[in-house]
Amino acid sequence: MSTRQFFVGGNWKLNPTSVGKAKELVEVLNKAELDPNTEVVISPPSLYLIPVRDAVSNKQITISAQNAYYKENGAFTGEISSSQIKEAGIPYVILGHSERRTIFHETNEVVALKTRAALDAGLKVILCIGETLVQREGGETTKVCEGQLSAVVKQTKPEDWSNIVIAYEPVWAIGTGKVATTAQAQETHVDVRAYLSTAVSTTVASETRVIYGGSVNSGNAKDLAGQQDIDGFLVGGASLKPEFVDIINARK
Ligand code: G3P
Repeated sequence: MSTRQFFVGGNWKLNPTSVGKAKELVEVLNKAELDPNTEVVISPPSLYLIPVRDAVSNKQITISAQNAYYKENGAFTGEISSSQIKEAGIPYVILGHSERRTIFHETNEVVALKTRAALDAGLKVILCIGETLVQREGGETTKVCEGQLSAVVKQTKPEDWSNIVIAYEPVWAIGTGKVATTAQAQETHVDVRAYLSTAVSTTVASETRVIYGGSVNSGNAKDLAGQQDIDGFLVGGASLKPEFVDIINARK
């Protein structure tokens, strides 16, 4: 198994429906026995970032925003900036999630500008990439993922990559219950690492954590976690359930 620290993120998306329920989710994690070797990050909706930050008592758990704009301030109604997230004591931000790319039309270039701005503000980035079912069935998975990564490579220096976790999330597996097979996920993670090796450096390729997202649950997490190039997960629906603890402990 690699020396990269196992990483499990919980992307709550637009959930739960009250700050009280958000604190209940945190309390489950505060009380749980978590594998001390796993880095745990939870990502609530923006309005809940500070109450969730304050509710966490287990120092192993850190917080992530789900998005940030690439300008630090100005006439950008509805946006939040990386420096505001940093000032709130939130260390991570998820960028380029497929829902941002499809619903809110974020291009590879915009995701790359957001990544640059987040790194400049001192945030660590969970950078989401992944192909649609049509693209996978058309044999375009590698091309799509490399296109998404190359835009970020253009905006970064090799030393930036120690602050980036790549989340490979095949769009066809997100929220569908159709998890990628271990072979599919492992194969794409190897391709991502091979791309990083040529586009950035062999060191960055071997040290950057590449995590998997898309219908991860307590039933499939162990098999996926056993793959050499799967360094953890970005979990949606199951991160809102008690089984999230089992996913965090998938390598135990
Ligand atoms: O960011 C993680 C998310 O997109 C995966 O969602 O519900 O398939 O685990 P889900």
